Amino acid sequence: MNQPKRYTITAALPYTNGAIHIGHLAGVYVPADIYTRYLRLIGKDVIFICGSDEHGVPITIKAKKEGVTPQDIVDKYHGIIKTSFEDFGISFDNYSRTTAKVHHETAQEFFKTLYDKGEFIEEITEQLYDEEADQFLADRFVTGTCPKCGNEEAYGDQCEKCGSSLNATDLINPKSAISGNVPTLKETKHWFLPLDKHEEFLREWILKGHKKDWKSNVYGQVKSWIDDGLRPRAVTRDLDWGIPVPLKGADGKVLYVWFDAPIGYISSTKEWAERVGKDWEPYWRDKDTKLVHFIGKDNIVFHCIIFPAMLKAEGSYVLPDNVPANEFLNLEGNKLSTSKNWAVWLPEYLEDFPNQQDVLRYALTANAPETKDNDFTWKDFQARNNNELVAIFGNFINRVVVLTDKYYDGVAPEPSEFSAVDQETLAAVKAYPDVIASSIERYRFREASQELINLARLGNKYLADEEPWKLVKTDEARTKTIMFVALQIASALATLSEPFLPFTADKLKHILNIHSGEAKNSWTDISSKTVILPTGHKIGKAELLFSKIEDEAIQAQLDKLMASKLANEAANKKVEPQKETISFEDFSKLDLRVGTIIEAKKMPKTNKLLVLKVDTGIDVRTIVSGIAESFTAEEIIGKRVTVLVNLAPRTLRGVESQGMILMTESEDGKLVFVNPDTATKSKVPNGLQIS
Ligand code: MF3
Ligand code: ZN
Repeated sequence: MNQPKRYTITAALPYTNGAIHIGHLAGVYVPADIYTRYLRLIGKDVIFICGSDEHGVPITIKAKKEGVTPQDIVDKYHGIIKTSFEDFGISFDNYSRTTAKVHHETAQEFFKTLYDKGEFIEEITEQLYDEEADQFLADRFVTGTCPKCGNEEAYGDQCEKCGSSLNATDLINPKSAISGNVPTLKETKHWFLPLDKHEEFLREWILKGHKKDWKSNVYGQVKSWIDDGLRPRAVTRDLDWGIPVPLKGADGKVLYVWFDAPIGYISSTKEWAERVGKDWEPYWRDKDTKLVHFIGKDNIVFHCIIFPAMLKAEGSYVLPDNVPANEFLNLEGNKLSTSKNWAVWLPEYLEDFPNQQDVLRYALTANAPETKDNDFTWKDFQARNNNELVAIFGNFINRVVVLTDKYYDGVAPEPSEFSAVDQETLAAVKAYPDVIASSIERYRFREASQELINLARLGNKYLADEEPWKLVKTDEARTKTIMFVALQIASALATLSEPFLPFTADKLKHILNIHSGEAKNSWTDISSKTVILPTGHKIGKAELLFSKIEDEAIQAQLDKLMASKLANEAANKKVEPQKETISFEDFSKLDLRVGTIIEAKKMPKTNKLLVLKVDTGIDVRTIVSGIAESFTAEEIIGKRVTVLVNLAPRTLRGVESQGMILMTESEDGKLVFVNPDTATKSKVPNGLQIS
């Protein structure tokens, strides 16, 4: 596509079962926002579309857990998420939700069109079923082993480890997420999108088409899926939360969440068009529209294979021009996790760092997981702020504004002759819009953000080299020229920083008084105008753009993470519930003696069993004990142990066991002997265990 007429930019619709964290921001929303703001600045016709993804199993699971309705859950988080996006300057033209009427209608209509065109296979198949919960198990209702990579915690629709998209029946050893039971199979009717039928088209479009300029991580994943061969995929589910399948005889069936959610981009566009009085259709149907989906890597298959196949089958829509998916962001060396509360949540960040949205935006962009997974550390965040935003960007602006105020009462001075350095500097400034644009257009936002800092660096160096504060006493004309040049750089920064640091850019434009009038610039003005901040223009007073973040603030964040790690560990510790009460008589029947292990051997062909000879004080007897995974035979010889001597003998692997060694579990989950010499002194054991 050479010169698109308009742009439709989408950002993945977030699931509405939790707040937004830094991983979402870094992977999807900040890059999408930078891209869109840039396009607006160069005067393009662009819409930026998003909304809440409110169907799907995780939402019903959360609702059940909290004893509320799914609608309660989505209402709560839709509000929280929407506010976070506004707070962080994610400048959507429309933020909708998939429970909206317009979306239900659009998704049903889309389904109906495909149905009428005969694009689905209707089939009764056996699906996983939880007898106890009386419910079919698909998607997140079932976990099991991924047939592709062996991950034991794959879900019924996708393995998060290798990214494979799965059918629930593909899972090895499936287990119900509701009851933990092994599912049975039960027949049910569903509608399948035959992806195999679209394989040739997808191969042509992605692999042979112009998609070679897609990011290599995206292109590589898609290629390997297509090369593996595509299969029909069910687009309906037996669930009571979702968009009803718009067919007769489909009671109790809803659209698969990954069928309805991407259509949400279209319904959100309709909602926008309605609100602003425009026509939505060109943004989805005109071939000169450039459609770009910003997503995280776990969404690649849905945006590069399934949704394009749906759009193609429907027939009246454009296909994405690019899908610049990011890899994952980790936090302090560990995977971000909502359930483990290992995250930096946006509402909490804002409480701890009020008005410092741009710092987070910048730190996440400068360290974005564009080509590989990346780690967010609070130390890096601090360094990005202190060493780059404060020391370079903020410092430069502050010097320019303070000096202009001091020397010229805030009025931009008239330059005299430009030196070679001045000319080089001004030429370099003019080159920046193109340099940064070229990085942005290739979706290299890290690189783009560093070029922005380079421009500030150039300004800083210029002032440090030219030293107007020294010359002001001796050479008034030269000082004016220097300050004029410095003001041009400051003004360029106000415009070029906007996609990355929108709040700062706004503040800076306010300080420089360039929100409107002759001194207001577009992106391209920076290159094309001879003067971007004219002589005689009056600027305002200095204001702090960034402030230093102290070690204590960083330590507080690290402490918070440590606390959530400990809380999580404590919550995950499985404590066996207490058994039924027994009477004293029951207890007194146990004949417990102190014995010594005098011989120990591994039971052949077993992993767990040791055959022990134990001197009980009454006799020396044989006891078979299931402790071989925790102890070697050698290390326990001579050990004093507590023995239940009047347990009825039983035969294990042909060896008669005449009693039992008492064991318990230590706090870290290791098997330990109930030691007759220390048991009374130390803590009471957690619970006796039969071994
Ligand atoms: N809710 C999904 C996720 O968070 C993304 C949906 S993107 C859409 O992974 F295309 F379906 F909208
Ligand atoms: Zn896998």
